[in-house]
Amino acid sequence: DIKGMTFDLDGVITDTASFHEKAWHQTANEVGTVWTQALADQLKGLSRMDSLALILKAGHHEDDYTQAEKVSLAEKKNRYYQQLITKLTADDLLPGIGAFLNELRSAGYRMSIASASKNAVTILKQLQITDYFQGIVDPASLSAGKPDPEIFIKAGELLALPPMALIGLEDAAAGVQSIKAAGQTALGIGLAAKKAEPDLYFDRTQDITLAAIHDKMN
Ligand code: BG6
Ligand code: MG
Repeated sequence: DIKGMTFDLDGVITDTASFHEKAWHQTANEVGTVWTQALADQLKGLSRMDSLALILKAGHHEDDYTQAEKVSLAEKKNRYYQQLITKLTADDLLPGIGAFLNELRSAGYRMSIASASKNAVTILKQLQITDYFQGIVDPASLSAGKPDPEIFIKAGELLALPPMALIGLEDAAAGVQSIKAAGQTALGIGLAAKKAEPDLYFDRTQDITLAAIHDKMN
C-alpha cells in the first residue's frame, strides 16, 4: 500500500525547471557550447556542478577552465537563477499541484522533498507550501546526485516509510532512474521523464490525482 510521496520540486511542483534551463542556456552561450533540447533534457535533475560539467563536455570545453573558474561559472548561473525565482509566489504552483497536495494531505499521505536544489527551501517558502512536507532532503548531505538513488532513499527515510510504500514524482530522466534504483514506484511527468520508462506516466501535472494514479496502478 502506498502511504507516502517523495517529490522532486523543479518542474514537478513549480515551473522552475524552465528558469534553470534559461540560466544554463546563458552559461552555454558564454562558454561556447551549442544549446540543444537534447542537452537541456539531459541537464534536468542534475546537481549544479554536474550540470556545468555536462555543458562543458558537450562543447569539448572541459579542459578550458580551472576548477576555480568552473565554480565561478556555476555561481554566476546561480545568481541569475536566483533573480528569476524572486518573482515566485503561491500562484506559481504548476496546474493541479495545489489540489493534489491538498488531496494527499487530507487522505493522510506523508510527503517529502527530494530536490537536488540548494534553493529548494527558499522556493517552498515563496510558494507557501513548506508545511505540506514532513521532510526535505538536504542536497549538501549527498555523496552522489541523481541518477544515484541516494536522494530518494533519504527522502523515504525522512518519512520512515519503506520503498514499496512510496511513489516518487519526477520530470527528469535522471530523477526517474534515481526513484527506480531506490525501489520506489516512479511517477514520471512529461517527455524527458518518459525516456527513463517510469512505472506511471502523466503528460501534464493537471492530470495527476489519487484516482488517476490508482487507475494506472491496476
Ligand atoms: C534540480 C534541478 O532540482 O536542482 C536542476 O532539476 C538543478 O536543474 C539542481 O541543476 C540544482 O539546483 P541549484 O538550485 O542548487 O543550482
Ligand atoms: Mg525536476
